[in-house]
Amino acid sequence: MKKVLQLCPLFILLLVSTVYSMSNKEVLQMIEKKLFGKLSDGSEIFAYTLKNQNGMTAKIINYGAIVVSLTAPDKNGKFDDIVLGYDNLDSYVADNNYFGAIVGRYGNRIGKGKFLLEGKTYQLTINNGENHLHGGKTGFNKKVWSAEPIESETDPALKLTYVSKDREEGYPGTVTITVVYTLTKNNELKIEYTGTTDKTTIFNPTHHSYFNLSGNMNTTILDNELWINADKITPVDNSLITTGEYADVANTPMDFRSPKKVGKDINADFEQLKFGLGYDHNWVINGYNKKVNKIASLYEAGSGRYMEMYSDQPGVQFYSGNFLDGTAAGKKGVKYQHRSALCLEAQCFPDSPNKPKFPSVILKPGEVYKQTTIYKFSTK
Ligand code: BGC
Repeated sequence: MKKVLQLCPLFILLLVSTVYSMSNKEVLQMIEKKLFGKLSDGSEIFAYTLKNQNGMTAKIINYGAIVVSLTAPDKNGKFDDIVLGYDNLDSYVADNNYFGAIVGRYGNRIGKGKFLLEGKTYQLTINNGENHLHGGKTGFNKKVWSAEPIESETDPALKLTYVSKDREEGYPGTVTITVVYTLTKNNELKIEYTGTTDKTTIFNPTHHSYFNLSGNMNTTILDNELWINADKITPVDNSLITTGEYADVANTPMDFRSPKKVGKDINADFEQLKFGLGYDHNWVINGYNKKVNKIASLYEAGSGRYMEMYSDQPGVQFYSGNFLDGTAAGKKGVKYQHRSALCLEAQCFPDSPNKPKFPSVILKPGEVYKQTTIYKFSTK
């Protein structure tokens, strides 16, 4: 009996370590790491596939913090990839559509790439006509991020970090950005951002997935029903720079206050749609209170897939894939046609640094920028 008692702690230790290593093994299966490709300088880029307990997957690479694929079930339980992207790294290096990427430092446009901050004028790279778009020529979408899988049996996550040097693309201050992608047990892709700086700067990152909820990328998104919780947009001029004013959506094609098919009014004779070649505007979220609220939803009747979007940001850019023209050869060789997917990008308003009426995007040393945006998937 004495011997048994002596052995008992040993037995418990053995049992605990076996259970721990078994559960750890299971956890590791929730995040699979594979080589995705090599950049011309030889750096290796890895793909991390997060899988939740319902079978949903998100494949993310540490180049551009890009979501390469996202699978979600349809009304019959069939999983399909519902985002545009490429099969190989070279295509992402060449890409100018920002498929699935984290965009920054500034999501969307800054007029003539110029802004005044604390009495000093800064000139950013010009990469879109005469304007600055999505962080410049080599934005966050073209950078190598460090990646740290966060193992969890229920909510696997990937933490990505990038340090953007002072004056990169013309922006002041060295900025450290972290993005945590979590695939939750509630079938959400949750994106949490933090940002810090060592000099006063501007900061407005966003996520740029192109969704086609049907999973069939040979179709358009024109029959998808979109709802956006916004009474107003920030109208643009013909170079897609915000005018600095707000415009009511009531009685215009921009009204998505009740779910409406994207294609219903997209070709209407309406100046804002002419400027954007379709929808390419920022909607001003009603009741913005810096908390995570439901701001938009998208429904595709054929598959029954329903996506709800939650965010703590004041705006959302709805871009109806107007610049897709069949030249981007995507996954499985599919050539992505005009309006074959759409983006819903949580953000502060475009060209805010130059628009006194818009919320501030200034980040100062000692402050921590935070953003949470969630895309939640279900069926109906
Ligand atoms: C912008 C579009 C742009 C697209 C791809 C969207 O966020 O609003 O104007 O063409 O990204 O770069």
